[in-house]
Amino acid sequence: MTSSLFRTKNVEQSIRDTEEPEHALKKSLSALDLTVFGVGVIIGTGIFVLTGQVAKNNAGPAVALAFVAAGVVCALAALCYAEFASTVPVAGSAYTFSYASLGELPAWIIGWDLVLEFALGTAVVAVGWSGYIRSLLDNAGWHLPGYLSGRDGAHGFGFDILAAVLVLVLTAILVLGMKLSARITSLVVAIKVAVVLVVIIAGAFFVNTDNYRPFIPPAQPVPPGGSLKAPLVQLMFGWAPANFGVMGIFTAASVVFFAFIGFDIVATAAEETRNPQRDVPRGILGSLFICTVLYVAVSVVVTGMQKYTRLSVDAPLADAFKAIGHPWYAGVISFGAAIGLTTVCLILLLGQTRVFFAMSRDGLLPRFFSRVHPRFRTPHRPTILLGVVIAIVAGFTSLSELAELVNIGTLFAFVVVAISVIILRRTRPDLPRAFRTPWVPFVPVVSVLATLWLMLNLPAETWLRFAIWMVIGFVVYFLYGRTHSRLAERGRPEPEPAPPAP
Ligand code: ALA
Repeated sequence: MTSSLFRTKNVEQSIRDTEEPEHALKKSLSALDLTVFGVGVIIGTGIFVLTGQVAKNNAGPAVALAFVAAGVVCALAALCYAEFASTVPVAGSAYTFSYASLGELPAWIIGWDLVLEFALGTAVVAVGWSGYIRSLLDNAGWHLPGYLSGRDGAHGFGFDILAAVLVLVLTAILVLGMKLSARITSLVVAIKVAVVLVVIIAGAFFVNTDNYRPFIPPAQPVPPGGSLKAPLVQLMFGWAPANFGVMGIFTAASVVFFAFIGFDIVATAAEETRNPQRDVPRGILGSLFICTVLYVAVSVVVTGMQKYTRLSVDAPLADAFKAIGHPWYAGVISFGAAIGLTTVCLILLLGQTRVFFAMSRDGLLPRFFSRVHPRFRTPHRPTILLGVVIAIVAGFTSLSELAELVNIGTLFAFVVVAISVIILRRTRPDLPRAFRTPWVPFVPVVSVLATLWLMLNLPAETWLRFAIWMVIGFVVYFLYGRTHSRLAERGRPEPEPAPPAP
């Protein structure tokens, strides 16, 4: 029994499975497409919405340092993801990697965890998008009724019709094919990056350095409340819950981490890439680097334009321009943000369907979901199923409840990927690795520790919700996946190929 839980799928088998015609995805993406995909999904609600919130509540102008801290954690993880994606260029990202190295149960856990990350991430971003659209509609004097504006502002019943419709439209685009969505994505990403550059360049002229004092506001005790809302690390060590100060930077980092989610999704498109060994590492590291530079610049500029205590929590970038008397810039920024969030949603949804597809192809979920569409060559069944479910969740979701849950799921996947790099180096030293993580095991170990640190800075209740989701995952695996797995059907772990002759 124990051995069946840790049966691994050998790497050659993973790659062969992708070549079966009826389960094969079209290989059409280049390094540039991947970088555009990366930037397209990375820049989103995190920078457009969360920056103001954490500057105001947790870190002050030092939110820029929170972005640096979260960026470092992501860079370490990216080095591990890049090695894996260049070695195992198969749809499914961390799920596939862990199937090849840790075994079936850990792979299932990761796949289940990624479903949480991508599905809830899509819902969160769709709700953020809908907020920006409503604000633009309000400017034009057109107001949606409260019961169609989502849960946050509703009294009684509230369904976010805009968020739900967005998810359904994007689902249709994905079913029609990768190429179409990649083309739309490129255009939208260009608009989004242009808007971010407008914030940085135009905003730099309005920076008042007085706003940076104090750069790290002194720690303030928080009024006693539900202890489950405090970061786990504070509860573990019995520290008095506090905001700001140095610890506030880490609390902020664990939240703005959401802004970096997405570079890992580049790896989910490995199987659809023409030259994955070369292009996937370039796409992952390139998009992460571009975004980190932009985030730090944006947060320095915005906290310089307006005192952190006065930043808006709904649309901080646009409202900082309103506050200094430039509503025209604010309108352009809101418009760009609304457009930009569309691609974030699209790519999160894409990553989601690809993980589901990979799990189904392996038999851990029903195989029905991994037949690609005869004409469009896309995994239309999981795309439609998940699209509809996510549209419903987005309609009824409150933003803040779910963003932290998405973060913990993603950070957990980082831990598993870093450990998997070390394991696969030992178990399969012979595999060609187009990209090698430097200083193994040092870099993966530091990556695990840094990631765990961010996780510990998330609220205790987030840990609790995450644990519940994982327990449900275990139940599904033991009731379905363990017996339907293709590895189980093959009856035994696949033999590893003989080591190369000396
Ligand atoms: N990184 C993405 C965002 O900020 C998920 O919205």
